[in-house]
Amino acid sequence: MTSSIPSRLLVTGARGQLGTEVVAAATAAGLTYAAHGSRELDITDVDAVTATVADFGRAADEAGQSAVLINAAAYTAVDAAESDRDAAYAVNATGPQNLARACAACGVRLIHVSTDYVFPGDGRRPYEIDDPTGPRSVYGASKLAGEQAVLASLAGAQVVRTAWVWGTTGANFVKTMAALAASRPTVDVVDDQRGSPTYAADLAAGLLELAGSDVPGGVLHATNAGETTWYEFARAIFAELGEDPGRVHPTTSDKFLRPAPRPAYSVLSGAAWAAAGLNPLRPWRVALADAMARSADAFRAR
Ligand SMILES: NC(=O)c1ccc[n+]([C@@H]2O[C@H](COP(=O)([O-])OP(=O)(O)OC[C@H]3O[C@@H](n4cnc5c(N)ncnc54)[C@H](OP(=O)(O)O)[C@@H]3O)[C@@H](O)[C@H]2O)c1
Repeated sequence: MTSSIPSRLLVTGARGQLGTEVVAAATAAGLTYAAHGSRELDITDVDAVTATVADFGRAADEAGQSAVLINAAAYTAVDAAESDRDAAYAVNATGPQNLARACAACGVRLIHVSTDYVFPGDGRRPYEIDDPTGPRSVYGASKLAGEQAVLASLAGAQVVRTAWVWGTTGANFVKTMAALAASRPTVDVVDDQRGSPTYAADLAAGLLELAGSDVPGGVLHATNAGETTWYEFARAIFAELGEDPGRVHPTTSDKFLRPAPRPAYSVLSGAAWAAAGLNPLRPWRVALADAMARSADAFRAR
């Protein structure tokens, strides 16, 4: 694999947890980029997508630059999707299809982000990229439809599945635990769901590395290394906050029934990522300690 940074980047979903970090990483790398939140570019609007991607591709061509679109836009309200199917499919399936078709029309590369929820979640070893999918939720099914639309519409498209994303932007588990640590004596957290917490900034760096590589198209998995349960993750968060992890108590998913079923086991194997010559993301526990030490205020309850 040869590696260089892409010279021009287009980011969709740029105000989300991941999109914000992709933009930050692109800024730090000195890339030329355009970043669109949903207000600037609604990926379900096929005409707007076609025009925006064409302009982007033309500008890159004129400057003699390689052009890569990273799609971080998604409908991520997993429970709401169960009763809001059309909206979930519009953003998670039709939107990526719009992007892939527009990229195919003007020679732009596409990196599309997907999820561990495309798997049934009853595995006993990390899911490989070619393991059978079988989503159990509307969100997961809509994301799988998006993957399929992207791969069918654009030769060389890349789909990167990730999991349990948290970062400084938006609502996420780390911030929820920090708020609960500040407001409740004890917290019950499920100990029967296993996955890999993934720091959005680490994932963003990985996506930029992929964008600058000549790794062929297809599916890859990218999460921070290692696996844990939400309970153990919560204990680690308490510890990083200087709070007593003993205030976190284990419970089971049947005590927290929600509209969308959650996978019991959705660890993603990074074997294909590493085999492609890409740098594995560091262990989740190291990322948590580092991020909370460097950005303590962003995670603490106010
Ligand atoms: N969060 C997780 O735990 C997790 C786990 C596995 C995989 N993923 C995947 O990782 C990716 C990034 O997730 P995230 O955590 O960064 O999600 P996020 O924070 O919810 O951000 C998603 C962004 O998509 C934007 N968006 C929604 N509808 C749009 C539309 N029609 N057109 C353009 N943009 C639209 C939203 O913008 P507005 O807010 O302005 O509407 C939001 O900023 C997604 O593909 C997600 O499926 C996430």
